[in-house]
Amino acid sequence: MTAVVEVRDAHVVHRARSGGLLRRDRVYALTGADLAVAAGETVGVVGESGCGKSTLARVLVGIQRPASGTVLFQARDLWTMPPAERRATLGTGVGMIFQDPSTALNRRLTVRRILRDPLDVHDRGSGPEREERVRELMSLVGLPGALADVLPGQLSGGQRQRVAIARALALDPALVVADEPTSALDVSVRAQILNLLLDLRERLGLALVFVSHDIQTVRRMSDRVITMYLGRIVEETPADRVTDAARHPYTRALFSATPGLLDPLDPIPLTGPVPSATRPPSGCPFRTRCWKADHLCAEAMPEFSAASRPGHRYRCHHPVEEDQSTRDLARQEP
Ligand SMILES: Nc1ncnc2c1ncn2[C@@H]1O[C@H](COP(=O)(O)OP(=O)(O)O)[C@@H](O)[C@H]1O
Ligand SMILES: [Mg+2]
Repeated sequence: MTAVVEVRDAHVVHRARSGGLLRRDRVYALTGADLAVAAGETVGVVGESGCGKSTLARVLVGIQRPASGTVLFQARDLWTMPPAERRATLGTGVGMIFQDPSTALNRRLTVRRILRDPLDVHDRGSGPEREERVRELMSLVGLPGALADVLPGQLSGGQRQRVAIARALALDPALVVADEPTSALDVSVRAQILNLLLDLRERLGLALVFVSHDIQTVRRMSDRVITMYLGRIVEETPADRVTDAARHPYTRALFSATPGLLDPLDPIPLTGPVPSATRPPSGCPFRTRCWKADHLCAEAMPEFSAASRPGHRYRCHHPVEEDQSTRDLARQEP
């Protein structure tokens, strides 16, 4: 099966704001990332703030060019194609939904203009067909047609995010990447926006990459969960098994810290701060906070090991036992 998007060994290094003008530190935002997303699949990305989730999202939609590595969109190498072709490929093939709809939308344009813009830029259909598509998009995301002529500032946060979602869908993209799409919204409208995304995914057969630090939501929405730590993808787990079958100690700790309401857990405590992305530890980046770490972990980052289930792989020298429940782990560790 061809992936809609595939990232191979991608590295992103930023110049830090620290370190002085002449000798800026390097921030290792993404290191050796491998990921493929298939049509119709929802992949969730979890990890603490600063671990590289947004960087990975930006690489997937072609906003961020990796310093090295390959990004294939529908089997074509994004960064070797001519710029005009890349713009057309991404402009029509990919939709991105950002955290804060009030900054993501042009405040001077009406909803109608915002939704027409991608159609105009990529020359889709006749004038009347574009107007029809705008109406269709508004109804798709549950916005009353009467709002077509208002400015984003006159909308509620939830309505603005609906506009942003409609704009991302305007050209029927194969891939939608949503980076913390509900974090800036009132708690009361978050569920509505999540349900809208789920519904659209079903109806449109989208490949969806969903980034959030609300990991229980990620688990419920996704087919697969990607765990990131300090710029690395450390595990990929089928979502329905992530709570008790994840093998990486960090994934277990993350999911133990935010219990579902029906299934409260004792959290596995993580000691110490997240290390700086400017000077990541040698070997496995999680070793400074891991209760299982030893000298081997300081020497080398392990390659991915495949677990007994398809779609499950992890990078750890001392994985948690497959059948060990997180509840038991929390009782005895560290
Ligand atoms: N433009 C930038 N310049 C310098 N550092 C950056 C930039 N963007 C992100 N970073 C750093 O890269 C790392 C990963 O950031 P990000 O991908 O935004 O993480 P997340 O989305 O998981 O919070 C962090 O250490 C962050 O401070
Ligand atoms: Mg982010």
